[in-house]
Amino acid sequence: MAREVREGLSATPKRLPSKLFYDEIGSALFEQITELPEYYLTRTERAIFEDYAAEILEAAGPSLTLVELGAGTASKTCILIEELLQLQSRALFYPIDVSPSALNEAVRQMALQFPQLRVSPIVADYTGGVPALARISGRKLVLYIGSSIGNFEPPQAVGMLRRIRRSLRASDALLLGTDLAKSSKILLPAYDDAQGVTARFNKNILDRLNRELEADFDVDAFKHIALWNKHCSRMEIYLESTAKQSVFVPAINMDVHFAAGERLHTENSYKYTDHMVNTILRESGFALERTWTDPKRWFGVHLARV
Ligand code: TRP
Repeated sequence: MAREVREGLSATPKRLPSKLFYDEIGSALFEQITELPEYYLTRTERAIFEDYAAEILEAAGPSLTLVELGAGTASKTCILIEELLQLQSRALFYPIDVSPSALNEAVRQMALQFPQLRVSPIVADYTGGVPALARISGRKLVLYIGSSIGNFEPPQAVGMLRRIRRSLRASDALLLGTDLAKSSKILLPAYDDAQGVTARFNKNILDRLNRELEADFDVDAFKHIALWNKHCSRMEIYLESTAKQSVFVPAINMDVHFAAGERLHTENSYKYTDHMVNTILRESGFALERTWTDPKRWFGVHLARV
């Protein structure tokens, strides 16, 4: 963490790795974001699963084993599992996540809710590929939902999907959730809500440097900024210094200077067009088979074959 922070704060323009958002406080704030009226992503994807779970599973093929990348607490996945257990009497579920605590919670919840489901958690950073997937027999449906793919730069997204694909067989499929390109009138409030929860979430990254690296960021001297970059089809999230100021980060013995109005980049969130979805899947060795969307076409769930 110290090394990545040093690297990011030394760069021009300054940046911080977005994975720093998700400590315990950040994860709780993100949960709050998913329930905001402006943040349409989570509820829209959930509605697609509610409307089309049967179609999705049917298209993926019979006798499925589910795998979920970055499962977290796997709350949306329950909709698919419930439907799957209508189609087959038993099922296997392999949630994969870097966070053992999130996985334990998923396992506990699901074991209670679905006695016919065998849950085998895998603690791993899936971005490097998951070789253990190759040893799972039977037909797999790999879920990569929640628009997490959108937080990667497209070339990194392709690299990640390619590494996942290497552990899959011909009958296996990928179910990819992407947020879709849309009007900035919808996008901007989703990343800058009226209650200021998203601003707190973004600023938690500075609080975290204060807590964990003993830094002395004056968090109130930074402003949450969300911009729509139409050319790159992405939301860009920054923290903007409202004044000329200096910050000291003892853990890395670093003085950081900010000019008034200088921006620190914390996240990109790509909003996929049909063309972008096709391109990343093709370049990573998948073939897009079908897409399900909500009536407003705000979110896409894509089934792709190896
Ligand atoms: N993966 C989420 C997204 O891109 C994360 C997120 C939501 C986020 N709101 C944010 C990241 C605000 C940074 C700032 O939609």
